[in-house]
Amino acid sequence: MTTRAVVRGVGHYLPDRVVRNSEFEKTLDTSDEWIRARSGIERRHFAAEGQSTSDLAVRAARAALDDAGMSPGDIDAIVLATSTADLTFPSAATMVQAELGMTRGFAFDVQAVCAGFIYALANANALILSGQANRVLVIGAETFSKIMDWTDRSTCVLFGDGAGALVLETQEGSGRNTDRGILSTDLNSDGRHREILYVDGGVSTQTTGYLRMQGKEVFRHAVEKLAKTAHTALTKVGLKDKDVDWIVPHQANLRIIKATAQKMGHSMDDVIVTVQDHGNTSAASIPLALAVGVARGKIHRGDLLVTEAIGGGLAWGAVVLRW
Ligand code: UT7
Repeated sequence: MTTRAVVRGVGHYLPDRVVRNSEFEKTLDTSDEWIRARSGIERRHFAAEGQSTSDLAVRAARAALDDAGMSPGDIDAIVLATSTADLTFPSAATMVQAELGMTRGFAFDVQAVCAGFIYALANANALILSGQANRVLVIGAETFSKIMDWTDRSTCVLFGDGAGALVLETQEGSGRNTDRGILSTDLNSDGRHREILYVDGGVSTQTTGYLRMQGKEVFRHAVEKLAKTAHTALTKVGLKDKDVDWIVPHQANLRIIKATAQKMGHSMDDVIVTVQDHGNTSAASIPLALAVGVARGKIHRGDLLVTEAIGGGLAWGAVVLRW
């Protein structure tokens, strides 16, 4: 018998305010055509003033708990992936814990930028496999609108706000790759590339700072690394790219998503795509895509999923999961 971390529930939350590409035409030298053609993005959601990352996370968490038929008291741990926590500390995860009324267990944030949800899933899986928690709420939540330089057309048109969450629970499996749950993970980082995607502020500068990106460079790394990490994760459990039912990629750019699917030998029919509606929501993009994939009747119990992401660090990785 092998312990597995199995998905029991999924939920998401998007702030009410929807901003179409055309809105940026009023203040920037940009166009709906450019944004669509270069990124695939058509619209994104922005949090209201005063609406923080933990507010979004709580909504997604409640939806995931409802879907699982569980209450906050059933949860042993919260792992929250974010790069836009409300405050420097305490963690957004403990704020969510308090807001949910959860008075036992433990909660912490994971910061791996756009790869954050992959890292959070890997951490949650490790907690479950090591017996430290039986039920883990894994959340990806971001308010990247708070770190946008609204005068920088090369970044501010790309990002959005949102949150998604999964409830994972311990279940005994056979140890074969036909089991439900997380089957393998592959994590990577290379800190030499910090200059190509970073925020130019933080505690040491006593400012919040703004996101800075050399888009072309990040694009190049993404196309080179994403199919590879997905393949590595699949190979660890004796699976091949062709065995995958659904690719659930980080939603940064439709051209990256297409190139990765092509490298994996899949058509776009096998890919969950939400970038047109959400923009790049960093650590929230994968759980949002999972929630949308389920809601649209695409992802079904027993399907084999591979999910992959890359972002600031650089940090990247993949998770193979049977839904
Ligand atoms: O989630 C974390 C990971 N992030 C990513 O994966 C993002 C990866 N990068 C990308 O998605 C793409 O590189 C971008 C969408 C950011 C940019 O697309 P690109 O095809 O790499 O364009 P570019 O940066 O090479 O810019 C092409 C041109 C430039 O003008 P020149 O130098 O050719 O005259 C830019 O100044 O487009 C210009 N440009 C714009 N034009 C209109 C840049 N931003 C805009 C804009 N509107 N918003």
